[in-house]
Amino acid sequence: MADVILEGIKKSYGAVTVIEHLDLDIRDQEFMVLVGPSGCGKSTALRMIAGLEEITGGTLSIGGRVVNDVPPKDRDIAMVFQSYALYPHMTVRENLEFGLKIRQTPRAEMDRRVREAAEILGIAELLARKPKQLSGGQRQRVAVGRAIVRKPSVFLFDEPLSNLDAKLRVQMRAEISKLQKTLKTTTVYVTHDQIEAMTMGHRIAVMRSGQLQQVGTPLEVYEQPANLFVASFIGTPPMNFVPATFTDGGATVTASGFKMPVPEPFRAASAGRDGAKVVLGIRPENVREASREGGGETVRVTAKVEFVEPLGHEVIVHGRVGDELIVAKVDPHRSPRIGSTIDLMIEVGAAHLFDAATEKRLGS
Ligand SMILES: Nc1ncnc2c1ncn2[C@@H]1O[C@H](COP(=O)(O)OP(=O)(O)OP(=O)(O)O)[C@@H](O)[C@H]1O
Ligand SMILES: [Mg+2]
Repeated sequence: MADVILEGIKKSYGAVTVIEHLDLDIRDQEFMVLVGPSGCGKSTALRMIAGLEEITGGTLSIGGRVVNDVPPKDRDIAMVFQSYALYPHMTVRENLEFGLKIRQTPRAEMDRRVREAAEILGIAELLARKPKQLSGGQRQRVAVGRAIVRKPSVFLFDEPLSNLDAKLRVQMRAEISKLQKTLKTTTVYVTHDQIEAMTMGHRIAVMRSGQLQQVGTPLEVYEQPANLFVASFIGTPPMNFVPATFTDGGATVTASGFKMPVPEPFRAASAGRDGAKVVLGIRPENVREASREGGGETVRVTAKVEFVEPLGHEVIVHGRVGDELIVAKVDPHRSPRIGSTIDLMIEVGAAHLFDAATEKRLGS
């Protein structure tokens, strides 16, 4: 049993503060992903949990115990690094045993745990090899193995898959998720890859410049992004942002080239705010060709095609609507010509609205 609770965590390097005030509750058995662009403070936060980085302010507790001043080896955590950090002169078996030896685990127990981990990870055949005789994916498994033999209360992962090729990354993503499901060990996983975050996390914490932007399940964050940053960071291709104004007493929203009813969840926020400046957010998957059937209320716009990305299973079209460029996902068999004009339908119910000044989501 171990939850990880960060309360008002602060980190400064000399005069420079990189994390001002971080509050985050990671539940027992949860798989929490910290995601955000490079330099936003993910590794710093993780390293503070690990005890590899001193905490400047606030309280960190693991399993109900304040651990601010507890050394890493006494925190009951195991960390997997991007670099794997295997000992090159030791065999795979010795690498797996290392953490157990330090803790004076009896021989028989050590053998049993190494065998178990090797089986789970499919590396039983590699125990006698040295790290340099392994592929990247195999090294990565050994690094994970070294964490699981310890049976810690918390796993900490810092971009463990970023050195792998795309295919292996997808495979290891699934393996780590499965492993966590089996072991039920509380996990904090750092990545800058939003797809990794969406597919692996029970919940994800989106960070920007040392500040937490939103915490929620992948679906919550996708469907109800708290602000423009989260909306643009989660989802590919990113959400379209169109400057717009409330009109008709807040019943409609008008952009360059089209006008639509304000979607239901935003009505309370728009009522009576005629003329208020907003940003209309529309995901490319919610813009379809007019020739395609589909349910729900839509508005029709005409777009002049400027750029086309054929991806095989779908085609991404960048079209000029009024003054704005709108990106749409269309059927693969349709590949509109650059310079041609196409009719698009925007799904009203799937549109998002943000305050233009605060960049925060309006409504519920
Ligand atoms: N030892 C240090 N001294 C001063 N500043 C540091 C130090 N370590 C990190 N920083 C700064 O703290 C900020 C957060 O760094 P951190 O490594 O946590 O980012 P990150 O989100 O993990 O990024 P990446 O995705 O690139 O790994 C960065 O601006 C970085 O320059
Ligand atoms: Mg990092």
